[in-house]
Amino acid sequence: MEFPYAEPYKIKMVEQIYRSTQKEREQWIKEAKYNLFKLKSSQVYIDMLTDSGTGAMSDKQWSEMMLGDESYAGASSYDKMKKAIKDILGFDYFLPTHQGRAAENVLFSTMVKEGDVVPGNSHFDTTKGHIEFRKAKAIDCTVDEAFATELIHPFKGNLDLNKLEDVLKKYPREKIPMIIVTITNNSSGGQPVSLQNIKDVKKLAEKYEIPVFFDSARFAENAYFIKTREEAYKDKTIKEIVKEMFSYADGMTMSSKKDALVNMGGFVAMRDENLFKKASVFNIMFEGFITYGGMSGRDMNALAQGLNENTEFEALEARIKQTEYLGNKLVEAGIPVQLPIGGHAVFIDAKKFLPQIKKEEFIAQTLAVELYIAGGLRGVEVGTVLADRDPVTRENRYPKLELVRLAISRRTYTNSHMDYVAAVCKKIFDNRDQIKHGLKITYEAPIMRHFTTEFEKIS
Ligand code: F0G
Repeated sequence: MEFPYAEPYKIKMVEQIYRSTQKEREQWIKEAKYNLFKLKSSQVYIDMLTDSGTGAMSDKQWSEMMLGDESYAGASSYDKMKKAIKDILGFDYFLPTHQGRAAENVLFSTMVKEGDVVPGNSHFDTTKGHIEFRKAKAIDCTVDEAFATELIHPFKGNLDLNKLEDVLKKYPREKIPMIIVTITNNSSGGQPVSLQNIKDVKKLAEKYEIPVFFDSARFAENAYFIKTREEAYKDKTIKEIVKEMFSYADGMTMSSKKDALVNMGGFVAMRDENLFKKASVFNIMFEGFITYGGMSGRDMNALAQGLNENTEFEALEARIKQTEYLGNKLVEAGIPVQLPIGGHAVFIDAKKFLPQIKKEEFIAQTLAVELYIAGGLRGVEVGTVLADRDPVTRENRYPKLELVRLAISRRTYTNSHMDYVAAVCKKIFDNRDQIKHGLKITYEAPIMRHFTTEFEKIS
């Protein structure tokens, strides 16, 4: 008999969380203008806003924190991080940054200019934001399967090679500074990209002489899916798969707050010394000297240790099976979710959950608010609010999918918490007919409005 999976760690420290009442939450969310980002963490019972920087570090990571070298230049912590990046990911050059979007800022300042186009697979919002901020355009080439939530497909993060080649044919080479492959593809549901697809993208890119960069926030989870879903890789270790994945990239940006298991940090890595030198100028200007960028020595140490820990099969299995555990509970309750269940989160299909709400009334945001009021659960909208307005027409962009993402922090909650989350979702689902109206915006920022938009309930 095969034994079920179980976590390859035990818990050494706990943090108290407050279970509020529904009445309290109704008041708090009103005061927060129906934007979950504006809630205090003490007003949240289960925090599923993000899996970014919210995980638990290991005893070994905490030990590394004590060994941090805080020298301005040439710290040993920099060398530790350099070694981990070379050994695990295979890049010779890198620049530390304070988080993922800072890595994007440094890289795009070096490579992206006005009028450029950057094809990719559902660019993450900060990635798209940094591209559009430079008056360039992000073109989505994700496979169509990603937008049919009930369709089972092992690699819904893949790029559609025809869509990609159309872009490469349509624009001159000097207008396409890079192709961005996001692994795993966060915006389409934490869905992986296959190694075959990575190879095919690289081949096309070589034909048109365009560099390929990976947005690598959840690269280790992507490697787990390759091992478990792509026949040719089933006997390879995660570290072998990771090495091979990155061998097809010219460089990468990383939000270390995800798969490097730290609370803060990031980096940009590359093969080309010349690019490194150019990017170093921006790193020094925006982040810090090249041997620390936006990071303290202790954080670089913890990051190096985290990269090592999280490229082990058992660690990833425990993490991804917990996500699947929650996903399966929602499926059992009849709740429409993005299938198959992704790596870092369960994504509820809000359009199918609340078909009675008009798209102009922010369907996924409405659902996220209801889940908070019912159970103190904080998910995040991945829909019209996030999609923002078209930078030229200023019209709302209505994305194909309206999702509520329930992200699971690494090594943080137990499966009893997941049972609770599933029960809250089921309660709202069983009573969904009672939700008659959505929300309207009373304030929004000119760019990246997601975090600060204020709403009113439509009654
Ligand atoms: N790329 C991806 C795929 C991401 O998911 C994120 C962040 C970033 C880049 C930016 O990194 O936050 O360190 O600046 N995602 C978080 C999330 C915020 O909740 O999914 P960052």
